[in-house]
Amino acid sequence: MIIAVVNQKGGVAKTTTAINLSAALGKMGKKVLVVDLDPQGNASSGYGIKKQELIKTTYEMIMGEARPAETVIKTGFKNVEIIPATQELAQAGVRLLQFENKNMQLRKALIQISGNYDIIIIDCLPSLDVLALNGLCACDRIIIPMQCEPYSLEGVAELFATVKRVKKAANRNLQVMGIVFTMLDKRLTVNREVMLSIKKKFPPQSIFNTEIPRNVRIAEAPSHGEPIVYYDNSSKGALAYTDLAKEVLVKCGQEVGMTNG
Ligand SMILES: Nc1ncnc2c1ncn2[C@@H]1O[C@H](COP(=O)(O)OP(=O)(O)O)[C@@H](O)[C@H]1O
Ligand SMILES: [Mg+2]
Repeated sequence: MIIAVVNQKGGVAKTTTAINLSAALGKMGKKVLVVDLDPQGNASSGYGIKKQELIKTTYEMIMGEARPAETVIKTGFKNVEIIPATQELAQAGVRLLQFENKNMQLRKALIQISGNYDIIIIDCLPSLDVLALNGLCACDRIIIPMQCEPYSLEGVAELFATVKRVKKAANRNLQVMGIVFTMLDKRLTVNREVMLSIKKKFPPQSIFNTEIPRNVRIAEAPSHGEPIVYYDNSSKGALAYTDLAKEVLVKCGQEVGMTNG
């Protein structure tokens, strides 16, 4: 099962969700690969990866300049491996345009290693450019993190239209697994109001029951290079991401082995 975390808006907790969901799944015994598909490389640094030491990254994998297996490195956390990214990945966004199958390069690469994992999580960049389209073409499901703020729904129609187009043209398997509310502070009227309006707009099955609260421990964790379920496993943020991981597994159903260990 390959899941892309997508929203062309920046700062909505895509990377936070990719890191913490993958770490929680790993803790539950699932073999997980994180693919950092953002030249900012925040998923890599959030996992404590030192970028100056990297030789093979998402860039080489997507350009076909390294075998995918060569680009995978271990994180220090149970069951989680990562293909890291650096600034160099931005060049792929340009160079890929010359490829005949420019949107399919990530898919082509991941097929070679997907059998090694229960779940692959792709942390997409805040864009709907060729790199992001590679993410959409490579995955089975997408998770859309959303903040309950006045302009949150801006761009979501475009995102859904893009998903529909990709599904038709390149990836019949593609489905939206759900919208997840992030950085939620229910004391704020605006958060509650926007949440209600989003719930009116989408069917219940396309919104995760789990809500991720605004939690300072989540914001602190990346600078320690640790996912929240390791940095502070008793925090509200850790509990929420653990719940999200359980909900993801339920939604994946039979397609992910339900073994533990
Ligand atoms: N639940 C949360 N509580 C507090 N801060 C959060 C939470 N989720 C994300 N953040 C912070 O919000 C900022 C943007 O999150 P990030 O995951 O980098 O967004 P994106 O990948 O969508 O650009 C980061 O500084 C992150 O630490
Ligand atoms: Mg990000």
